[in-house]
Amino acid sequence: MKDNKSPLYVNLAYESGVIRSAQNENPYGASPRVLDAILKNINCVSLYPDFILTELKDKLAKKNRVTSDEIIVSPGSCALIDQLISRMVKDNENIVIPKLTFIVYKLCAGIHNRECRQAAMQNYYISLNNIFNLCDRKTKLIFLANPNNPTGTIFTHSQIINFLNKIPEEIFVVLDEAYNEYVSDKDFPNYLAILKQYKNVIILRSFSKIYGLAGLRIGYGIAQKPVIEDLEKNKVPFSVSTISNIAALAALEDKAYVHKCVIKNAQGRELLVNCLSALGYKILPSQGNFVFVYFPTTVERDKVHAILLKNKIIVRKLEPFGDSKSLRISIGKTHDNRKILDCLSVHT
Ligand SMILES: Cc1ncc(COP(=O)(O)O)c(C=O)c1O
Repeated sequence: MKDNKSPLYVNLAYESGVIRSAQNENPYGASPRVLDAILKNINCVSLYPDFILTELKDKLAKKNRVTSDEIIVSPGSCALIDQLISRMVKDNENIVIPKLTFIVYKLCAGIHNRECRQAAMQNYYISLNNIFNLCDRKTKLIFLANPNNPTGTIFTHSQIINFLNKIPEEIFVVLDEAYNEYVSDKDFPNYLAILKQYKNVIILRSFSKIYGLAGLRIGYGIAQKPVIEDLEKNKVPFSVSTISNIAALAALEDKAYVHKCVIKNAQGRELLVNCLSALGYKILPSQGNFVFVYFPTTVERDKVHAILLKNKIIVRKLEPFGDSKSLRISIGKTHDNRKILDCLSVHT
């Protein structure tokens, strides 16, 4: 891999010594039990995957306390975001998202030539009021990442309930919970109570974050049976690979590993938030596996980015997301977090 000088590999910087803090991956990788299951089943690469994914759906249904016909598994939650837009939003209809959020919502709206309305943030927080005010009779989907990427903030159970009470049933609200496992805030929405009460809610989950399977592309959605039925009938067959299925099944078994990653992330998050704040950086309280640092000017942001890059630490500039004065830093292993702090304390 090191010898491969294609721009892809250079950009992704898998070389040793590089700290990958730009993509919100799990710095501990996948569980050893997952790697073991993949190796044991490596000969299955020549076999078509289970089309229905019965075992995985059953496991996910049990874990999430729903029925398996309320679950759809997809090759990453990005694929599900794409399918939701292509399937649910017609030509003259629109989707509404916060201005600073996961970029794939607007990318997929663009792919399908659908109008994507972006609601202004309030001091970098999502304003559910602004989202509501952008909706009209042509709005079909609202995407809300919770925790939000790239800001790391959440909205609470009561905030989302108040919001859902105002939203007409014809508009589907997608609660993208790719980072839900990292949340420690007790007021985080209870997806199950929400799903029971509102027919127009779709929950998205991912194996890319806490389970460390970003490279295998697997995620899932939870919604009422008719919604899932329609998505199932209209999905690309065999799109979730045999190995991804095997890996996800093994990942769900290793609860201790997930627990370890949650604890480590919380420790790293506290360290980065506290120390960066103490150094005078402006930082939002994060509930994800990354932190959001914002600056008075783009020039100051660029200075910090350059210092980190010089030290082989890659963090995310957020222009494509819609902000030029902030950085998103993925939380790494303790050693990596300390290196980031060391670099930035010399700078201040
Ligand atoms: C909010 C949010 N949703 C979904 C995803 C993508 O998940 P997946 O890798 O399952 O497509 C990400 C990845 O960064 C994300 O930040």
